[in-house]
Amino acid sequence: MPAREETKVIFESHAHYDDEAFDEDREALLLSLREHGIEYVINVGSSIENCRKTLRLTERYPFLYGAMGVHPSETGELNEEALAWLKEQCAAPKVVAVGEIGLDYHWEEPEISVQKTWFERQLALAREVGLPVIIHSREAAKDTLDIMRAHRAEEIGGVIHCFSYTKETAREYLEMGYYFGIGGVVTFRNAKKLKEAVQYIPMDRILLETDSPYLAPEPNRGQRNSSLNLPYVVQEIAALKGISCEEVEDITSGNAKRLFCIA
Ligand code: NI
Repeated sequence: MPAREETKVIFESHAHYDDEAFDEDREALLLSLREHGIEYVINVGSSIENCRKTLRLTERYPFLYGAMGVHPSETGELNEEALAWLKEQCAAPKVVAVGEIGLDYHWEEPEISVQKTWFERQLALAREVGLPVIIHSREAAKDTLDIMRAHRAEEIGGVIHCFSYTKETAREYLEMGYYFGIGGVVTFRNAKKLKEAVQYIPMDRILLETDSPYLAPEPNRGQRNSSLNLPYVVQEIAALKGISCEEVEDITSGNAKRLFCIA
């Protein structure tokens, strides 16, 4: 029987390897992922500049795919020209999603009306280009759901990244057919609500993610995060679900391939 290391396939559904936190060792780190079972990475855009960098990474690394979108906190930079540019990039061969897009009320800038406008415009863009969305929603549970309902987001499909709401909100997204990105936060001792939500969400709706360089799991909390920390997330989900780590890896990889249409 092959060793576990040889068979495992981990799908990292949300990372920011364009971030300057990786400037010193990006190439070596990315090239080391596969020997640790990380077979796929989605690098997620958060500003126009980061989308440009993401495109370059998709061209350089065969296992790395991209998402094109502008994070709610960066939507102050958007205008018609930038949106048209984003739309063009969605046709690139390794762009598999629109994101990360949404609402973030933790930060005061830009104002809510601006965030909402560009969330709606980017949802409409995803529908137009036929790609799923990667949703960022922080302290904005109700408004996010209201906008997604108004745009019939169930027809677009996608993932709620870094899901941080209650079981009740999870149920709403489950009914819309959405996936849930679960990362390092689930390992935090004080993440009681999230652990309950993970127990509640069916395995066929969970994706693994890190949000690297942010949100490193225990025992590396506070340090720079990378996909190499995903086994800690896998262990926690396996414990919460009462299944094996291999099952968590297999099922979540299958889920991500299905959502992002990667063969
Ligand atoms: Ni992110």
